Amino acid sequence: MFKKIIIITSILLISLIAFMSCSKKENKLYVGTNAEFVPFEYREGDQIVGFDVDLINEVAKIIKQDIEFVDMAFDGLLPALQSKKIDIIIAGMTATEERKKFVNFSEPYYNSQQSILVHKDNNDIIGFDNLEGKNVGVVLGYTGDLIVSEMSNVNAQKYGATSEAVIALKSKKVDAVVLDYEPAKQYFNQNDDLKLILTDSVNEEYAIAMRKEDTELLKKVNDALNTIKENGTYDMLIEKYFNAGL
Ligand code: ARG
Repeated sequence: MFKKIIIITSILLISLIAFMSCSKKENKLYVGTNAEFVPFEYREGDQIVGFDVDLINEVAKIIKQDIEFVDMAFDGLLPALQSKKIDIIIAGMTATEERKKFVNFSEPYYNSQQSILVHKDNNDIIGFDNLEGKNVGVVLGYTGDLIVSEMSNVNAQKYGATSEAVIALKSKKVDAVVLDYEPAKQYFNQNDDLKLILTDSVNEEYAIAMRKEDTELLKKVNDALNTIKENGTYDMLIEKYFNAGL
């Protein structure tokens, strides 16, 4: 008898805990990112920080939503969104036409471009045209990867992370790395042996990605972004991450 009561109580307790953790999950948004993209998202100790992190925290405050970050490989973000492992992506992600087929993007929050990093003593690469016949490092799934992989006679070397591509460049395993301008500039600033080349590549708009069906969330996020742009928060974040000599 006593045994039975214990068993029934434990079953009840377990179900209660399961129920509580489920309902908690319901009202929290899981934010996917790849925290290796300075100054948008990067690690400081075990903290994920950066422009995107502050921006999405501001959005969350406005739409009164608890969020939790999930850090993963960049090329895993879109599949994780589709399979509902995460609910939203903020990762300096360019709103490309191809990606728009699978997800909804918010209004853009930042404009960028591709740039080229080379070794300091490399004088023959001054633009995309000179990449022909060269080994070019890119990061798997980044727009830089998509662009370089489409160029004929360029040998694209794909790396799993930005830092790996840069290490390959420093040790001259590749002749160049094609990467978004802002993180490229950070690597350039921190490494005396690198040179940064600006390009006339197309403008890329970074935006927040959500599932196609989450139209209500999309509207809320866009409204929040507008508020952030209008009330000065956006300018403050730009100042903090781009003009304060980071
Ligand atoms: N803007 C590029 C893209 O959308 C690179 C983004 C990489 N972001 C990151 N958090 N690692 O493909």
